Amino acid sequence: MEKLTMEKIVNICKQYGFIFQGSEIYDGLANTWDYGPLGSRIKNAIKDAWRKRFIQENDNSYELDASILMHPRVWEASGHVGGFSDPLMDCKECKTRHRADNLINDFTGDSRGDSMSHEEMVKFIKDNNIPCPKCGKCNFTDIREFNLMFETHRGVIKDDKSIVYLRPENAQGEYVNFLNVQRTMRAKIPFGIGQIGKAFRNEITPGNFTFRTIEFEQMEHQLFCKPGEDMPIYEHYKEYAKKFFMDLGLPESKLRYHDHEKLVFYAKAACDIEYEFPFGFGEINGTHDRTDYDLSQHEKFSGKEQKYLDPETNEKYIPYVVESTVGLDRTVLAVLCEAYDEETLEDGTIREVMRFSPYLAPYKVSILPLIKKNHSDKAKEVYKELSKYFMCTYDESGNIGKRYRRSDVIGTPFAITIDDETINNNTVTLRDRDTMKQITLNLDEVKDYVLNKINF
Ligand code: GAP
Repeated sequence: MEKLTMEKIVNICKQYGFIFQGSEIYDGLANTWDYGPLGSRIKNAIKDAWRKRFIQENDNSYELDASILMHPRVWEASGHVGGFSDPLMDCKECKTRHRADNLINDFTGDSRGDSMSHEEMVKFIKDNNIPCPKCGKCNFTDIREFNLMFETHRGVIKDDKSIVYLRPENAQGEYVNFLNVQRTMRAKIPFGIGQIGKAFRNEITPGNFTFRTIEFEQMEHQLFCKPGEDMPIYEHYKEYAKKFFMDLGLPESKLRYHDHEKLVFYAKAACDIEYEFPFGFGEINGTHDRTDYDLSQHEKFSGKEQKYLDPETNEKYIPYVVESTVGLDRTVLAVLCEAYDEETLEDGTIREVMRFSPYLAPYKVSILPLIKKNHSDKAKEVYKELSKYFMCTYDESGNIGKRYRRSDVIGTPFAITIDDETINNNTVTLRDRDTMKQITLNLDEVKDYVLNKINF
């Protein structure tokens, strides 16, 4: 297969119903995307997989579903009002706006821009004559900080007192509910709180399809632990997150750790997991040792004690937090990029196939009557029965080869053909998407055969 491009992935997503441009009939709203019938199936499967690993199988972890709108003081306490901003420069020639760190990272092919001060960035851009991506000139303004939080107003009066923010991360919902969850679940430290939900950031730079958007979903897990017991937990979550991605079908060879050298002042350690997208490596997860910073800040700003009382030792302390955050949209994108394949067949034709793991595939089985007028009644009966257990498609139009191709390109792992043998002997042929090999099964065996293959 030729090297995959983002353009190709965008086109496939649009053509087959994975992801559409947001508000497309109005020419789109930049950096917004709508998940179609197939994309939303994948997204939901990834959410369920995360729930299984990070809540269900994770000792002492609890799920939360907190509000998107939170008290504005939350964002003062967290530091987002004062410091959640991007370093922006305007091109004096063509008047486009750019993130200084991105200009540097795109130029160098690594992430050195992330750890530079404003002065260092300006100097680096000038010294290396880094051009504006739009007009090619190197003539920028100085850097200005631009806050990424979306503001809105509650109530009818639009003044400073009515400002509320759309949350830029899920984590704060977990911190402000730390004691609620601890008390109601009678949780003993170490314990975790996780949630899946939307976050919003007013990103001004366009972002490689769904990689950088203004509205996205995060799957975040905060592990509350005793100070001093944090580092082994931090190391554990780095590996745990990587294993999670590999279980979703992302190969280890395309994943890498990026340990942060320059840390925010309160963090003890931070590491990203990056996946190799067609445009290069990009972050899909972060593991952060956030110390007792967030809970201490909330204690200070709310005036409510946020300490944990150890029932065995009677010690009272503010726990440390190890965060593991996964970008859901970026994970969907990685899964899509990884799955796409073009296979040259023996007759020289090319088949497009999405090689999703059966667990992630939007549909599990295509049900194909061999001859419409003879076999469609039976096929519809089979479709109705199997749809009770997993998502199926029914396709009776065109020759069987064309129907296999349609099934392959949306990644359906199995196709069963209903023919005379089904009617006379209750057997079907089941074709495997990847090997294209066919086996004969008794119709009654199909359900369990498929269920066994689609576990996470
Ligand atoms: N609570 C910590 C936190 O929010 P982050 O590194 O800013 O950390 C976590 O974001 C994850 O959210 C990232 O690893 C990334 O996968 C995803 N993410 C961040 N900004 C995004 C954006 N603009 N569009 C899509 N995903 C984004």
